Amino acid sequence: MSATIGPMPGRTVEVRVPATSANLGPGFDTLGLALSMYDELEVTALEPGLLEVEVSGSGADEIARDGSNLVIRSIAHVFADVDVAMPGIRLVARNGVPHGRGLGSSGAAVAAGVLAAQGLLAGIVELDDAALLRLATELEGHPDNVAPALFGGLTIAWTAARGPQHKKLLVHRGVSPLVLVPGYTMSTKAARSLQPEQVPSEDAVFNVSRSALLIAALTQSPDVLLDATDDRLHQDYRAPAMPETNRLVRALRAEGFAAVVSGAGPSVLVLCDGPGSRLDAVRIADAVTDTPWIPQMVAVDVRGGTVRDRAEGSSSQS
Ligand code: HSE
Repeated sequence: MSATIGPMPGRTVEVRVPATSANLGPGFDTLGLALSMYDELEVTALEPGLLEVEVSGSGADEIARDGSNLVIRSIAHVFADVDVAMPGIRLVARNGVPHGRGLGSSGAAVAAGVLAAQGLLAGIVELDDAALLRLATELEGHPDNVAPALFGGLTIAWTAARGPQHKKLLVHRGVSPLVLVPGYTMSTKAARSLQPEQVPSEDAVFNVSRSALLIAALTQSPDVLLDATDDRLHQDYRAPAMPETNRLVRALRAEGFAAVVSGAGPSVLVLCDGPGSRLDAVRIADAVTDTPWIPQMVAVDVRGGTVRDRAEGSSSQS
């Protein structure tokens, strides 16, 4: 059987996807937070076989312009999954999510591709939230970045027999995130290769208690954020690969700030208890290490990724 005919050439969708910080300390491969830095994309269906890719902003010098581009691969993955003929694609991407810094740039690219495909397929095949998360997780390998990129807020992601699942929660308004971004990058693959296959059971129990506490801290009781962001499952194992990050996290925590490695690093996420204390954390960052840290005083993004059909002006929130 041949695939269903795809979208008409010329159909354009506009996609916006937030940065995300995964793990949040103890919630390895599970917790994620959407943050107010965005990739913005325009995706146009062309005659089959054509491909045009323009990228500006973060990572523009390194990002592939051919079929290996992660947004293009993600769109193609969705079209193959629903058995609709893949159109040619023109992609114009303006990247505001720092690239390779532990702020979910690959998850944002995957989420953007999946949302673009959802928009281009509207009226041909409808994709619900569960399908978006399944498809995005198949591409990314773990759901903790793609869940907040798609749905916004604080997300708990897990995998059940029926596939990847998520629960979205709203963050207490007393929590003010600060991201400290260094000039160097860290590969998630390299960071993951430093993880041991087994961990001591007391460390597993330690992280179970802190992860449970972290949900309370982020939604109701920011006063316990310091204890709630402690971790024994990944940060220490990865520290040798990013010593400056490790140094800054330790220095901030010693001063009472709930600082963690953002995702697989090397950025640092600080969950401050108010906008003012973010300035104190920035001062510590300036004093403690030789690395210049670029501070981003961000908000929690509560909308998640959006896709809008340019012709119809209709917008859907995933
Ligand atoms: N949970 C992932 C990790 C996030 O820490 O490896 C980075 O993609």
